[in-house]
Parts: sequence; C-alpha cells; structure tokens
Amino acid sequence: MNVDKIIVIDFGSQYTQLILRRIRENKVFAILKPNDVSVKEILTENPKGIILSGGPASVYDQNAPQISEEILKLNIPVLGICYGFQLVSKIFGGTVEKSEKREFGLAKINILRKSELFSNLPEKFNVWMSHSDKVIQLPEKFISLASTDNTEFAAAFDPERKIYGVQFHPEVYHTEFGNEIIKNFLFKVCNCEPNWQMKNFIQEKISEIQTKVKDQLVVCALSGGVDSTVAAMLVHRAIGYKLHCIHVDTGLMRKNESQNIIDFFTKNFRMNLHFVDASQIFLERLKGIIDPEEKRKIIGKTFIEVFESEIKKIGDVKFLVQGTLYPDVVESGAFSKNTSVIKTHHNVGGLPENLKFELIEPLRELFKDEVRELGKELNIPDEFLKRHPFPGPGLAVRIIGEVNSENLELVREADFIFIEELKRQKLYDKVWQAFAVLLPVKSVGVMGDERSYGNTIVLRAVTSVDGMTADWAKPDYDFLNLVSNRIINEIKGVNRVVYDITSKPPATIEWE
Ligand code: XMP
Repeated sequence: MNVDKIIVIDFGSQYTQLILRRIRENKVFAILKPNDVSVKEILTENPKGIILSGGPASVYDQNAPQISEEILKLNIPVLGICYGFQLVSKIFGGTVEKSEKREFGLAKINILRKSELFSNLPEKFNVWMSHSDKVIQLPEKFISLASTDNTEFAAAFDPERKIYGVQFHPEVYHTEFGNEIIKNFLFKVCNCEPNWQMKNFIQEKISEIQTKVKDQLVVCALSGGVDSTVAAMLVHRAIGYKLHCIHVDTGLMRKNESQNIIDFFTKNFRMNLHFVDASQIFLERLKGIIDPEEKRKIIGKTFIEVFESEIKKIGDVKFLVQGTLYPDVVESGAFSKNTSVIKTHHNVGGLPENLKFELIEPLRELFKDEVRELGKELNIPDEFLKRHPFPGPGLAVRIIGEVNSENLELVREADFIFIEELKRQKLYDKVWQAFAVLLPVKSVGVMGDERSYGNTIVLRAVTSVDGMTADWAKPDYDFLNLVSNRIINEIKGVNRVVYDITSKPPATIEWE
C-alpha cells in the first residue's frame, strides 16, 4: 500500500488505540506493534514516524516493558507519550521519579520554547495527565519545551535524534489542542501526506484475512446488529463462500427481524446463510422462569447449543468471526499484556471461551463510529448501520415475568409501533435506544361501554453517548399521545401505556 505510515508501539495504555484513531482521523495510516518489536521489523515497515504509547508501569519496575535502543537511533522521528517519554529519558541517561504530588487530570501547560510539535499553539493551555511518575532530569542533548506547576519537564526535544517526549496525553479529548499536537507531529515533524482512507483499511484487512484463512472454513453468528453485520460483510468480501453465517431465531427477536436479516444477506449479497428457527426450544426452556439472570443463563446456554450443533453440520470449521470492538477489548483487559484490567466484560448471550476455534476479529481496533463508516464503505444500508443496540437475550428481558408467546406478541407489537412512529417522525436517530417493556401488572380501564382489565406497556427512550450513562429522552406530548393511542387501539389486551422518566444511574436502560 502506497501510503505514509506511523508505527505506534504499545506499552499498555488504555489510550493506545485512541492514538491510532487520532492518526487515522488525520488520514494517515497507523499500525500497532508490541514493545518487543525488532529493529528489522520496524525497518521493513518503513514508517515516517514512531509513537511510543503511555502505560501503567514505572520505568524502574522489575518487569517494566522495554524497547530496543536501536529503534530510537534510526533517525526516524519519535514521539514518546507519558510512559514512552519516561522510558526514552531513562534509556538516554535521564532520571524518572515517582511524583509526590500526583498530577492526574487537567494541568495547565506553559510552552517555554518554539518547536514544530507545538507550532501555532497558544503559550498556555490545558492538558491531560495520567501518570504519577515524571522525568526530573532530562538526558543529555534533550531540551525542555514546556512545564506545568508540578512538572518541570512536561515536554522535551532531542533535535539530534529527532525525539519528542510529552508527559501528558495529546490523544485524549480533554487535552486542548491535542489534535493540533498530533497533526504537528504527523505533518510538520514526520512530513506525512494525508492520503489514507477507510478503503485502505478494508484492503489491508481483506488480505490479512485471506492469508490467515487460506482454504479453511469460517463461521459467524449473525445477529443483525451493527458489529456482527459489518464484521461478516468484511470477511465475506475476503473469502466469499468459505464464510458460513448462522442466524438463530431465538423467538425473542423483534417483529420481522429474522426475515429482514435473511432477505438482506442472501438477496443482496448472496451470502452463505444458515437460518435456524430455534424459537420453540427457547420458549420451552423459559417456561415459568421469572428471574432475569436465570433467563439470561438459559438463553446463553441454549444459544451455544444451537449454534454448535449447526456448526457440526457445516463441517470442519477452523475459524470464528466476532464483531469485537476496541472498547470491548479494553473493558476485558485483553488487548495487551501491559494493560491493567479495568472491567471484566460480560456480554451475556455471547460465546464461551472454550469454543475450539481461532478467532477472526477484524473490528478489534475500531470504535463504533468508525465501524459505521466502514459499513458505509461496504455498502451496508443505514437500516443496519444506525440500528439501536439490542440486548443478546432480546425481548426476554423486556417482559417482566414469564416469557411466553402471548407476552412476546404484546411486547413485539408495542415495540414495532413505537419504533415505526419514531422513524416516521425522524426521531429514531436522535435517541440511543427506544423500546417497549411489558409489565406483569394488570389494571382496570374502560373501552367503549365495557370495563376492561388489561396489560401495561412501558415506553422507554434514552439518549446516551456510550450506554454507560443515559438520560431519558423528552419527546413531545403529541408524539407520546399518538404512540399510546396506536398501542391501545391496535393491540388487544393492552389498556395502559406509561412512559419511563428515569435516567441511568440510578436506573439501568433495560428493565431487567
Ligand atoms: P443497561 O440495561 O445495563 O444496558 O443500562 C446497557 C446497554 O447494554 C445492553 N444490554 C445487554 N446487551 N446482553 C447484551 O448483549 C445483555 O444481557 C444486556 N443487558 C443490557 C442494553 O440494551 C444497553 O444498550
């Protein structure tokens, strides 16, 4: 590929992929290498620049991740960020110390000297700090570029070896002018051309997948969500009919959902799609179950059973495609041996670790919005790309109480009307998630001249950036009125509709 390239060397920072993302946003190609990358490998890649990431270790720790000194002497421009800067300083004879005054979070930086890295920036601005160690003595030949109240050497430069170091994180949104600093490094220090596009990423992944798979068989569980759809389409581009997608109808899907998935993938893209209608098995096993976690366990286990038995019919399958995204990888702490674990990711309804397949995870480096961009490039329509998230256990966690076919029908129809109206009023894309919940509560009403005793539907719509916190959406009363009327008039058995006005926290987005 004929594009300029930056190598990012990973020392385990939770922000490492953010560095790659910032570079990609500036249309420069970036690849990640582990800290034990060899000089030969670097030379083969022929990068225009190297960035050393941050990391949680202290440079004097016994097992602190190292880097070959030779790499720093190649005369390729280097930017060391946080741990990266501390490591370079230590290697060339500087001193690093655990700071007594921990500088975490925002700090005001004073630029002391002109440099290409800080070109066209104000003299003072806020930066994001995230390490308790700092450089207290620069190595020979390094000059100080910036300071903060607590840190004498917030940035430094070695003009001879073309090495920059910064104590703060320019890749993090909270750093003012962070993108300008990255840009200055790419275009002023490394002289890169902004000629990388998502198309290049696709080409790169396709050839990577082809080399890995060769003539062997690959499977993918296709739920119809954004991530599995984009991952499957990318792998399909690479290996065509060798990819077998399996779509399991758990009976807990939304109205027409399975049919839409089958139509889309088989008619438009002639994909090898195996459809399994397992709704009866799921329903039987969920009979009488009320506890939410119990429901999740049963659904997860049954899904795996159905999926595995379908794989056996396909043959000798070697690989499994998963639509894992970068935030999932960070949460599980699985990305790098240098990363500290932040949170164990448990996506109930996902696949167990003991499935004996090698994984293909083509979206592992990407963030959700990049996956959508990639999907657009692969001609996947917005109907799939802009879908609200839908939980693995499906409508089962939107029926409070027992899951049976009558309850499923009620919640499915209510959901359909709500979503249809949101789309009609152009509100669907403005909320993170919207859905209906069926309560195990009956109440008295009047319909015509008769007294009714019917079910209660809750409408829930939230706005959110990442699903971690959420605010309840505030549609106007006329809209809520319209949806409520339609639900009462069109769904036999429902005589009351309520709207959930709780944020997360304290509530969760789902009701179970
Ligand atoms: P909560 O309800 O915890 O949900 O605020 C946050 C996000 O996660 C989704 N969710 C799930 N996704 N399996 C999933 O795959 C689950 O068991 C599950 N529970 C919640 C939820 O829809 C929201 O987007």
